[in-house]
Formats: sequence, structure tokens, C-alpha cells
Amino acid sequence: MFARILLSLTFLMATLPCSSQDVIYDEAKVPTYTLPDPLRFEDGTLVTTPADWGKRRAELLGLFEDHVYGKTPIARPEGMRFEPRTKITDFLDGKATLEEIRIHFGKGEGGPYLDLLLIKPNRIPEGGAPTFLALNFAGNHTLHPSTEITLSTSWMRSGADDIEQGLVDDDRATEKARGSRVSRWPVEKLIDAGTALASFYYGDIDPDFDDGFENGIHTIFGKPKPDEWGSIGAWAWGASRAMDYLETDEAIDQKRVAIFGHSRLGKTALWAGAQDERFALVISNNSGCGGAALSRRHFGERVARINTAFPHWFADTFVQYNENEAALPVDQHQLIALIAPRMAYVASAVEDEWADPKGEFLAAKHAGPVYEVLGKKGVGVDDQPGLNSPVGNSVRYHVRTGKHDVTDYDWEQYIRAIKVL
Ligand code: GCU
Repeated sequence: MFARILLSLTFLMATLPCSSQDVIYDEAKVPTYTLPDPLRFEDGTLVTTPADWGKRRAELLGLFEDHVYGKTPIARPEGMRFEPRTKITDFLDGKATLEEIRIHFGKGEGGPYLDLLLIKPNRIPEGGAPTFLALNFAGNHTLHPSTEITLSTSWMRSGADDIEQGLVDDDRATEKARGSRVSRWPVEKLIDAGTALASFYYGDIDPDFDDGFENGIHTIFGKPKPDEWGSIGAWAWGASRAMDYLETDEAIDQKRVAIFGHSRLGKTALWAGAQDERFALVISNNSGCGGAALSRRHFGERVARINTAFPHWFADTFVQYNENEAALPVDQHQLIALIAPRMAYVASAVEDEWADPKGEFLAAKHAGPVYEVLGKKGVGVDDQPGLNSPVGNSVRYHVRTGKHDVTDYDWEQYIRAIKVL
């Protein structure tokens, strides 16, 4: 019990934006900084052609592995297999088909595995449906109230609120949790737009607490070395394994699969999209520090704070940049640049200062030169646009009214983006 209270308290402290004086929420206190040039090789030479970019891309990916997220030690594991488990063809009054596929990573039945929820329109356009692959925070069963969706038995974060509402009992989900996150998942809207939604619970891959990597997929791949993946790297790897499954489904348009994540899962979506070029659109919703926000601005959450509150998210090597962001060989605009020439969508919420909306815009903007070398256009504006005024081309950006969240407004923009791919 005591351990549980301690865990909840630690979580609460880690999640609540900190109000101490060292958090900068004032533009005048942002230090002057120089961003590393995405087009300049480490030896000082410049990228001028798409072919040069291929080499620089590899170099930059290596820098993000070595200094931020850690190396991904394994690609697709040998013996990984897909087990179809549920298929309901008359979901949403016959408009959609709901499937569940268990992706087994180890040999046995017991796990680790990832449960992929897949909801597809029944009217599939020629070439397949554009598809959002989304990581979720609270289990597949929270996306829709349907009792056809398997109730997750993985570890669940038991925040005080969730316990109070009866959504989580100790650290497992309860029946009551079904559909508890519908506000973030406009399933019917997506189906009506002709898009499919694939989603999995991030806790299937790696439970989100600092236990020295004793659980999730680490039970079969072992404890990471200091320069290997933390949880963000592991979650991103899970997204690629889900993509491995999507590739086997003819109803999915392989050229139009978007990876989507909110907040810590937005950081994950960016890292997944940077590494895995099968994602045609990469969506970062309010991802903030270690996601789309520039680290060198020091605005809102900073590297030291994130490494202290969430020591398991990044590679151990990232702690050397605590209070020392200027020494980072990369900054987050370069992570977005790694997505080029594919489409990147960075979305902010104006009240989400902890995630530094302006820093998110600037990172999106400063990825632009790489897109230009590849014949594409970036955000296309110099200044952060006004509220609810999306901008951009191959790099898109909006800042909407409201708080740190995923709203219908956000999804409407993502549907528009996936449709122009
Ligand atoms: C905390 C954390 C953020 C993160 C967020 C979330 O606020 O400091 O970096 O994005 O949790 O994932 O909900």
C-alpha cells in the first residue's frame, strides 16, 4: 500500500507542471541560442543535394540515438507472429469492421505481446484506406465503449483520479474504464471520413515507470545498455511492429499510414517516424520537451526536469545535458527534419505552456531547409500563426485554443492532412 501511495505521489509530482521559479514561462527570459544546422555535416561541410541528405540523415539519426533516445537494439524479432483474435464486421451499425490482432514477440503465449485494435471502414477505397496508427495511454478498451474490445490486462497507471472513478483497480483496468477516453478518439468521425484507426496500448510494450527495465519487452530483449533505448525508444519500436502487421492487410493503403501520439506518445511518434520511413505522416500532438519543442529555449519543461521525473524515458546518455542544453549536438527541429520528405504535423495547445507551443512551432519551422533541399515546402510562414489557423505544406502546424489534450479540432486537421498524401 505504502509503495502504491509513493508511486502515485511520484507520478503526480512528475506529471504536474512544476511551479518552481526555475521554470521559464516568460519569453523575455528565453536565452539567446544558436541552433545546430540540420544541413551541416559534423565535419562542417554542407548538404546541397538530396543524395548528400541521405548521408546527413544517417549521421543525424546516429546523434539522436547516441545522445537522446538510445539505440534500438533489435528490429523485427525472429519468431514474431500475428494472432487474429476478434473480427466484428458490423461494427458502428455496419459501417466498420473491428479487428483485434495479438502480436507475439516471444515464443510462448504468455507474453510479451501487443494487442492491436484495428477499426476499418467497410467501404474501402481503391488502394486501401488511409490509416492512423495511434499509441494510446489507457488501453484499447478506453477508445470506445464496445464490449467487443478486449479489456487490457497489462499494467495500468493508477492515477488518483482513475482510482476514484473506478477505472483502475490497483494497477489493472476495470470494466468501468470502457470508453473512458472517447473524447480523444472520434472513431465514428474517422470511419465516416474513410480512414482506418489502428491503436495499441503503450503499456503492452513497456510499463511506464522506472523499474530498471524489468518488464514489458525487456523480459525477452534484456536490460538496455546506457546508450540503448529507454521507454520512448521501446514504444516507438512497438509502433514499427504494429506497422509490420498493417503491411499484411490489403485494406490498408500502405502509402498513407500516419503515426500519431499525444504528449509523451507524441515524442514517441516523432522518434518512430524519424526511424521508420514507412510512416508517410508523423503527427506530434502537444509533445513538448523531448518531442517537438526546441530544448535550447529552456521554456516550460527542461531536459533536467524530464530526466529526473522520468528517468526511464530516454537513454542514460541524455542526462549529460541536464542544465546544459547548449551542449546537445542536436535539437528537436532536426528530429522533425529526419521525417523529410514525408509529411510532419506538429500541433500545440495555447494553454499547454509546459510543452512550449512557440518552441514547437520554431522546431517545425527550422526543419524547413531540409524539406527544401528535397523539393518540398515546410511551414511556409515565418511567425507562429494565430489560434486555430493551421499552416504548412509538408510540415504542418497549428496552435489551438485550450489545454493539453486531443480534441476533435486536432483530428479534423489530421484527417485533412492524411487526405492530401
Ligand atoms: C508530463 C511530462 C511531459 C509529458 C506529459 C505526458 O507532463 O512532463 O513531458 O509530455 O507528462 O505525457 O502526459
